[in-house]
Amino acid sequence: MCPPAHFRVTYSINPWMDPGKPVDLPLAVAQWEVLRDRYRALGHTVEELAPDPGLPDMVYAANGATVVDGRVLGARFAHPERVAEAAAHRAWYRAHGFGEIREPDHVNEGEGDFAVTASWLLAGRGFRSSPLSHPEAQEFFGRPVIGLDLVDPRYYHLDTALCVLDDGSDSEVMYYPPAFSPGSRAVLAGLFPDAILASEADALALGLNAVSDGHHVLLPQAATGLFDPLRERGYEPVPVDLTELLKGGGSVKCCTAELRA
Ligand code: ARG
Repeated sequence: MCPPAHFRVTYSINPWMDPGKPVDLPLAVAQWEVLRDRYRALGHTVEELAPDPGLPDMVYAANGATVVDGRVLGARFAHPERVAEAAAHRAWYRAHGFGEIREPDHVNEGEGDFAVTASWLLAGRGFRSSPLSHPEAQEFFGRPVIGLDLVDPRYYHLDTALCVLDDGSDSEVMYYPPAFSPGSRAVLAGLFPDAILASEADALALGLNAVSDGHHVLLPQAATGLFDPLRERGYEPVPVDLTELLKGGGSVKCCTAELRA
């Protein structure tokens, strides 16, 4: 995770970002700290990446790389405002003993568009990550990549529209069907017949921008419609308030890069 010490909305690269709307920085920091402390209280280790004053979106750490089995596929950002974040993430992995680190040839925004199940990589495209990043990731990780087409600019990253609930299985996800093209919806329906389907209200609260440890599901507290379906499947929803970070177009998952060492 990367503290939002320099978080602000001064440019707009997704429909959630309105530079005219003020950000309450102390509140953003406090909300982020609650999320970090919640992970720690649940027994997870949280590493912190040093924020850069010139990179206001750096708090969305999920975009910096994708790590599977200790192998690190670095990011390459679509927008010039975020390009420099990728090197900061690669340097962090290098300094922390990750041996296999790839600087990618094609645009991919890390876990914004790559989601990991037990044996697959689900991969979004349409707004940010290049379709060419999919074969690149498949070759690097040696896992089948399932490409999914995003069609609604409000759900510009896969992790705004789909969440893997248990990466020890290939069946547990929740998602918002209208964010996907008809063909991709058919793919998702076929692969995940028992998925939780989010309502528009829960998707708009960025309820799918959640992080699951296989039991606890940390998600935006406004996404109340997801709580019962999660409980019915044996998960424990852990609501968190990240409204200030919503102003940049992200929530729980965007703020969290998972170190699958
Ligand atoms: N303002 C950031 C951007 O538009 C938000 C990134 C959100 N991160 C995510 N994993 N969806 O790039």
